[in-house]
Amino acid sequence: MEELALDIKIEKTSKSNLDQVDFDNIPFGKIFSDHMFLADYKDGKWQDLRIVPYGEFSMNPALSAIHYGQSIFEGLKAFRNRQNQEEVLIFRPQDNAARLNASAKRMCMPELPENIFMEGLHKLIELDKGWVPNTEGSSLYIRPFMFAADAFLGLKPSDTYTFAIITSPVGIYYSNPVKVKIEKEYSRTCHGGTGYAKVAGNYAASMYPAKLAQAEGYDQLLWTDAAEHKYIEESGTMNVMFQINDTIVTAPTMPEEDTILRSITRLSVLELLSDWGVKVEERKIPVQEIVDATKDGSLKEAFGTGTAVTIAPISHIGNDGELLEIAEVEGEKLSTKIKQHLQGMQMGEVEDNKGWIYRI
Ligand code: PLP
Ligand code: COI
Repeated sequence: MEELALDIKIEKTSKSNLDQVDFDNIPFGKIFSDHMFLADYKDGKWQDLRIVPYGEFSMNPALSAIHYGQSIFEGLKAFRNRQNQEEVLIFRPQDNAARLNASAKRMCMPELPENIFMEGLHKLIELDKGWVPNTEGSSLYIRPFMFAADAFLGLKPSDTYTFAIITSPVGIYYSNPVKVKIEKEYSRTCHGGTGYAKVAGNYAASMYPAKLAQAEGYDQLLWTDAAEHKYIEESGTMNVMFQINDTIVTAPTMPEEDTILRSITRLSVLELLSDWGVKVEERKIPVQEIVDATKDGSLKEAFGTGTAVTIAPISHIGNDGELLEIAEVEGEKLSTKIKQHLQGMQMGEVEDNKGWIYRI
């Protein structure tokens, strides 16, 4: 953080909603903490940094973000330190600040200085500390986002933007192993597109095909390359990894591939695996290889990695109308070991020897 503290105005709520939350039964993304952080981009600079009571935005019907979709977001989590309940731990927030700016660049939006992201986040979490749960599997999900704020129907990058951080106590995203369908008709992105960025439109493009798959009983899609639908890329809410015999295989992200989100969880898992001496291959993954490996038993595990989902085991893969079941491995699963280690670090139970944890 910069030495000079930023001028962030704080207006506290007169009525906290904290006492209305049932922390033993938290849905994902429906409950919001008492405050939010806001900043406006006007006249070429970020200004009016403020924390205000969580509440509705009023907006002009011609708001550029609604019409032309200049809208980006991030997702990260805060946990209560299990060794010291007074302390809150946030996982790799500087990486989210950097990825927000990579998305901003692609969407022709202004970059946000890291100190605004970090100080806004710090002060907001400090104020709403009581909202960070300590129940099993729960955390405070943090959603930073930026959108175009001009009221103008001409097609051009907006001159004004709003940056906001809202937070939401959340429980487990997928409570059961996930059933995914390999998508071969629709695409969420393509080479030269916005797949690597965390852009609202990527998610909009994925909803219709995901809905069709859900009607067939799947939880999510496994996206394939837009050109040939031959290679597995990622899922709608997570990156994916496959254990084939003793090797973990995952699709490459930037700079090799521009269609897959450069997931912070994925990078963390890859680093842990390499520390543990597990063989890892970042390469194109042919659909056929996964189908064959599932059938001949060399596919030991498949799992997703992501902030919301943490580590989500995949139990079934649908391909061309055929439902393939991934056989349960005997003994400790690698995905379980990864999940325990990662969650242990996030909750202060495993030593952070990586400098991944930001403390408040
Ligand atoms: N891929 C997509 C499409 C996602 O929405 C997410 C969630 O953020 C991820 C991957 C995982 O990224 P991260 O680990 O940075 O949360
Ligand atoms: C996250 O994991 O932060 C995500 O953005 C997933 C979200 C689409 C629920």
